[in-house]
Amino acid sequence: MSKKYYITTPIYYPSGNLHIGHSYTTVAADAAARFKRMQGYDVMFLTGTDEHGLKIQRKAEQAGVTPQQYVDNIVDGIHKLWKRMNISHDKFIRTTDEEHVKQVQKIFEILYNKGDIYKSEYEGLYCAQCEAFWTERQLVDGKCPDCGRDVEKAREESYFFRLSKYQDRLIEYIEQHPDFIQPASRQNEMINNFLKPGLEDLCVSRTTFNWGVPVTFDPKHVIYVWIDALSNYITALGAYTDDKSLYEKFWPAELHLVGKEIVRFHTIIWPAMLMALDLPLPKQVFGHGWLLLDGGKMSKSKGNVVDPMVLCDKYGVDAIRYYLMREMPFGADGIFTNEALINRINTDLANDLGNLVSRTVAMIEKYFGGTLSDNFVSADPDDDFIGIAKALKGKFEENMDSLLFSNALAEIWKLVSRANKYIDETTPWILAKDETQLGRLNTVMYNLAEALRLISVYITPFMPDTAAEIQRQLGAGEQPEYEEATQWGGLKPGFTVCKGNVIFPRIDMKKELEQLEAEAAQKAEAAKKEAEKKEAKKTEDEKPVGIITIDDFAKVSLRVGQVLTCEPLAKSKKLLKLSVDIGSEKRQVLSGIAKWYKPEDLIGKKIILVSNLAPAKLCGEMSEGMILAADAAEDDVKVVFIDESVPNGSQIR
Ligand code: MSP
Repeated sequence: MSKKYYITTPIYYPSGNLHIGHSYTTVAADAAARFKRMQGYDVMFLTGTDEHGLKIQRKAEQAGVTPQQYVDNIVDGIHKLWKRMNISHDKFIRTTDEEHVKQVQKIFEILYNKGDIYKSEYEGLYCAQCEAFWTERQLVDGKCPDCGRDVEKAREESYFFRLSKYQDRLIEYIEQHPDFIQPASRQNEMINNFLKPGLEDLCVSRTTFNWGVPVTFDPKHVIYVWIDALSNYITALGAYTDDKSLYEKFWPAELHLVGKEIVRFHTIIWPAMLMALDLPLPKQVFGHGWLLLDGGKMSKSKGNVVDPMVLCDKYGVDAIRYYLMREMPFGADGIFTNEALINRINTDLANDLGNLVSRTVAMIEKYFGGTLSDNFVSADPDDDFIGIAKALKGKFEENMDSLLFSNALAEIWKLVSRANKYIDETTPWILAKDETQLGRLNTVMYNLAEALRLISVYITPFMPDTAAEIQRQLGAGEQPEYEEATQWGGLKPGFTVCKGNVIFPRIDMKKELEQLEAEAAQKAEAAKKEAEKKEAKKTEDEKPVGIITIDDFAKVSLRVGQVLTCEPLAKSKKLLKLSVDIGSEKRQVLSGIAKWYKPEDLIGKKIILVSNLAPAKLCGEMSEGMILAADAAEDDVKVVFIDESVPNGSQIR
């Protein structure tokens, strides 16, 4: 029976397009999944989207669409991105999937019935404008991080998860399972900074917004982020459905791959939830570092977000996948720069690997018409070269098993470099001049081609297209299963190479950087303008509600008018049709006061008319002004009458 491997990425917030930092987690998970598949594991690779919450609800409101329409559109883009980046997930879960929603509701009920979820009050810092609670840490300069306004302490009825109850069990579990949290430094951080100081129960429902999974037994509450999002890892397997076969096969997960800022949720809240549900815990949570920009984090407002789709279009998918996995040691933060990216493409890919491929294939074509024979003559550097090629397997696997992707690639590139050096040492172009050296030349070319075949096998998890292209150019044919494919000697004499395009064209660094700088400046300028527009709108919104200037008031023309005629409007129960004398002219006015006034109550009376209101057609009749009236009670309206001695047309100020 084959071994199973269940690997997950976090589910992404579809609150905007994903940037290159998001692609980092997914490419890493993809490389790990492909590696395990290659080794014959039965792999389940899960990714998806975390679609509920206030942030999404607001974004949808701003865009003038429903939250569902909003997320559908972005999730569509995410699917396209993963396809473009060759992500080989087996399942894509959306927290809006009906299957997920139902299971989350079940989980909530189970925890409630068990007493691990209880109703209480949440006290937090509330922004009335955004109708959102914030923690002290989320505030920006003491103000709401979304709108920048003041926040106030407020209480809200909420359900709580009894996280505190699991504190000791969690500490014990983490201490007894040193592999559970990786890298190890993050384990100490969880124990010392969060678990030992004490856990508080966790608020798991909200009543201030409704874009979420409703609590079945108290539907004014929606389930707030944790129980909804974290449980995706088991709902995707159908843990709480009738068909539990996937769950039974794949749970517990071998690996949750997450960014460092969400390690806490995955190593404290999630295991506590699983303990409460009496389910086994995942074997490992690995918290990787962040991909930063020179000036810090990527942010939309800075206009420095790096779009992975654009990068793939410019430089090719495999170049980007390679750069992401090679440039920063997995676990640590790294800085994205265009210069480093182009450097990697030019040096590692175009120069080292690309040249090795094109030189090898070109020489086999030139010296042997494309096909090598079994005329082998070994000589000095062969053993060293072949020794390095053979030793790569162990080093590669050891690094891949520890998720040390950058090291795994570095090991592969040692063989790439050794192969290039082997060409310099054996000087095939000199051997080619001497007929007696044909067997030696054949051997040199075979060793190079075979090393390249091995390289292509090892780079498969990182650069699947390039691996296939190298195999195609070598004429290596379909590769056998991993154990066999990684043995020296896989190429059988008689294979025929097939020259192809350069696999990684060199980039003119200077020209490219100039162009990128120009593009970045344009983007930053656009972002600045956008930010200014937003700021202007905020200032406008910040004017105290209801306050107008004297100039604003002067725009309203209020005149005394006398009601000459008044009759009900046949087409409407609410409206009366009046003719009003305002001194200089007569106006026809419709007024929604039929419920409270009969025509005879009004005829002859003096009223106040807003006389410069834009005329409007109501129920097919024109209305040329508005009569002032007071909301006297919830369902009572009183027209403002004015003393009979005031002449018609008098201005009111
Ligand atoms: N929805 C939550 C996860 C819930 S999992 C049950 C979330 N979503 S996210 O879209 O904000 O982030 C998803 C992942 O992308 C996280 O692991 C996060 O660390 C990662 N990254 C986001 N920006 C990143 C970088 N700049 N660099 C590397 N990874 C980063 O968190």
